[in-house]
Amino acid sequence: MKKRLLTGLQPSGELTIGNYIGSIRQVANYQDEYETFLFVPDMHSITVPQDPETLHRRVREIVGMYIACGVSPTENHIYIQSEIPWHANLSWILECHSYMGEMSRMTQFKAKSEGKKEIGCGLFTYPILMAADILLYNADVVPTGADQKQHVELARNLAQRFNKKYGETFVVPEPLIPKFGAKIRDLLDPTKKMSKSAENPKASIFLNDPEKAIRKKIMGAVTDSGEGVVFDEENKPGVSNLLTIYSCFSNMPIADAEKHFEGARYGDLKKEVAEVVVEALTKLQDKYADVMKSGIVDETLDRGRDEANAIAHETYEKARKVVGLGRV
Ligand code: TYM
Repeated sequence: MKKRLLTGLQPSGELTIGNYIGSIRQVANYQDEYETFLFVPDMHSITVPQDPETLHRRVREIVGMYIACGVSPTENHIYIQSEIPWHANLSWILECHSYMGEMSRMTQFKAKSEGKKEIGCGLFTYPILMAADILLYNADVVPTGADQKQHVELARNLAQRFNKKYGETFVVPEPLIPKFGAKIRDLLDPTKKMSKSAENPKASIFLNDPEKAIRKKIMGAVTDSGEGVVFDEENKPGVSNLLTIYSCFSNMPIADAEKHFEGARYGDLKKEVAEVVVEALTKLQDKYADVMKSGIVDETLDRGRDEANAIAHETYEKARKVVGLGRV
């Protein structure tokens, strides 16, 4: 039997090349090796205010993008979190086995709540819902970018704690963080990760950006002092980010990319990065347009919902019974 892989992408903004490199591309690469669960965690997105119409639209767009990126709509389980009631149900059981201390240490919560007067409870408990997302499907591996590693570790801790108390119930998942491209950086501030929800749209390249915008954003990316196109994340985070993007989109190992740019100036690097990104994203956008016209998104989501529901329900029933809820 194949091992299980599971991951999700929030519909909280337009997808960036960071999401593509850190998550979608990995799924496309691993889908033959694993039984793959790919879902849209829309319940996570309402931890911060959302416009309902936009949220509905983005849920379908994300699925369209997965498919356009080469994720098979028939070989994988693709579904929407909120269409499977067991996520919220299991999340409550896990919440009752989580500690305030461990939740307060979540760096993403600290970052997202910083400076805010009113902090939603959902923002605080969000990693527990994420643990439920993972444990319901007995996922063996969870590919994500570096920013989600701490959350996957919480899922591991909760699974181990639960299994110890009630007997083997959940598979303990492993994070799968790419060695390379796990943190694509903000183009204007390379100390930060590139984000769907960045305040300045010039800081992120979105998968549906037109060619002109892609070139303009890359040419305007912040580089570092000194010369030399070398991969040195500590001293040259801007240049290293551009090299990483180049390497990912051209499928050239980073050492070869460094050789390729020997003696080049930052401006030359930017031009070539723009070229490979434009080429890849234009192809992707054409495929995406076909997918969105085809009706395949809803077909995929209907089938995915039914498959996922059956699997998640079974796991939830196990957990419910061992903690003593309802009837045996
Ligand atoms: P989200 O929606 O913020 O990001 C989706 C995926 O993209 C990765 N990613 C990046 N990778 C490299 N560079 C970047 N700049 C970059 N930005 C984002 C993220 O690490 C992630 O893999 N909580 C999750 C969604 C989620 C989930 C889950 C994931 C909910 N339940 C269960 C896995 C398993 C999130 O907010 O990801």
